[in-house]
Amino acid sequence: MSQLTVNGTELRLERFPPQPQDSLQAWDAADELLLGAHQLPEGTLLVLNDHFGALACGLADRSLCWVNDSFVAHQALEQNLELNQLEPDLQALKMLDEVDTPIAGVMIKLPRSLRLLTAQLDWLNAHLPEGTPVVIGARQKDMPSSLPDLTRQLLDEVSPSRAVKKARLVYGQLCGRVSGQPTLLDWFCEPVDETISNYPNVYGAKALDIGARLLLAHLPKAKGQVVDLGCGNGVLSMAMLQANPDAEMVAVDESWDAVRSTNLNLAKVADSDRFEVVWNDCLSGMDGGQADWVLCNPPFHQQQAVTDHIAWQMFRDAKRVLKKGGRLRIVGNRHLGYHIKLTRLFGGCTTIASNAKFVVLEAQKR
Ligand SMILES: C[S@@+](CC[C@H](N)C(=O)[O-])C[C@H]1O[C@@H](n2cnc3c(N)ncnc32)[C@H](O)[C@@H]1O
Repeated sequence: MSQLTVNGTELRLERFPPQPQDSLQAWDAADELLLGAHQLPEGTLLVLNDHFGALACGLADRSLCWVNDSFVAHQALEQNLELNQLEPDLQALKMLDEVDTPIAGVMIKLPRSLRLLTAQLDWLNAHLPEGTPVVIGARQKDMPSSLPDLTRQLLDEVSPSRAVKKARLVYGQLCGRVSGQPTLLDWFCEPVDETISNYPNVYGAKALDIGARLLLAHLPKAKGQVVDLGCGNGVLSMAMLQANPDAEMVAVDESWDAVRSTNLNLAKVADSDRFEVVWNDCLSGMDGGQADWVLCNPPFHQQQAVTDHIAWQMFRDAKRVLKKGGRLRIVGNRHLGYHIKLTRLFGGCTTIASNAKFVVLEAQKR
């Protein structure tokens, strides 16, 4: 647990899920700068990309409209508001299209993907009045060299702050201009012989992940319920639906952009009664003992931090949700040593395929 002091008030903030002995903080120097930003107007503030709710907690005396496509970020927000016994006037939404209140100003924590920032600024310019103040905060090391051009293109009166603790703010105002970037990025994916559509924040939006490529070449023959855990744009589910007429997919991701991309993509290859796409943190709340297969290409980052806790959570949830005799098939970078985790959880695992970088492993629930 760590403490952040905002205007003399101490906030207790944790990442989500809380990790024992976690040395990683739930905020960074850019959040601190954003919380001290003095050019914010009265009225409802729209807060974007606040991963663990540090900005919402620090601004709890304001009316807030808080938008994040991450299910885990919504859980972190709830956790940290509760830890600090805060009950702000706050609407938590999963996408900008749900915003239905007048917005006086916008606070943006720079997202990892510039495509997402561009989409967000485009939405703001198309839906909010010109002149609405915007402040973007980021650590200098996270600021790409193209950021000044992008902000000048999509904002007026752009002015960067001085750097504090190696973070910086960029102030500007909405200008009504848009970038022309399409909402969906479409590309042809040869292993599924289909065009894949990608909303801005989906993983693998620009190209097929190389781990996914290996798993696509080694998918099981399956029938019954198959879970695609961390489905991204749904490419693994597409291939399973195409090759297995007696399989039904449950595709799960914590990113709303992944969920809506997967819904679009699966509709291209199967009737809607053969798949369900769920916005969730791993398989939380899903009944145990129901799945015949779980497929998984786990992430090894949470925001900027390299971590294996999500893979652990995914493997544990997979074991719980599988029927007795059901199987988990995963792909991972060799150096991540997933065979050790699977052996500890399932009592063994088999190598299905490998190349210089990746390995496909399978474990069975006994
Ligand atoms: C390496 S990508 C794999 C995407 C896709 N299955 C593929 O193979 O291209 C991992 C996915 O896990 C999702 N993810 C990360 N944390 C998650 C969580 N706690 N619960 C559910 N999905 C999560 C990410 O949003 C991302 O789409």
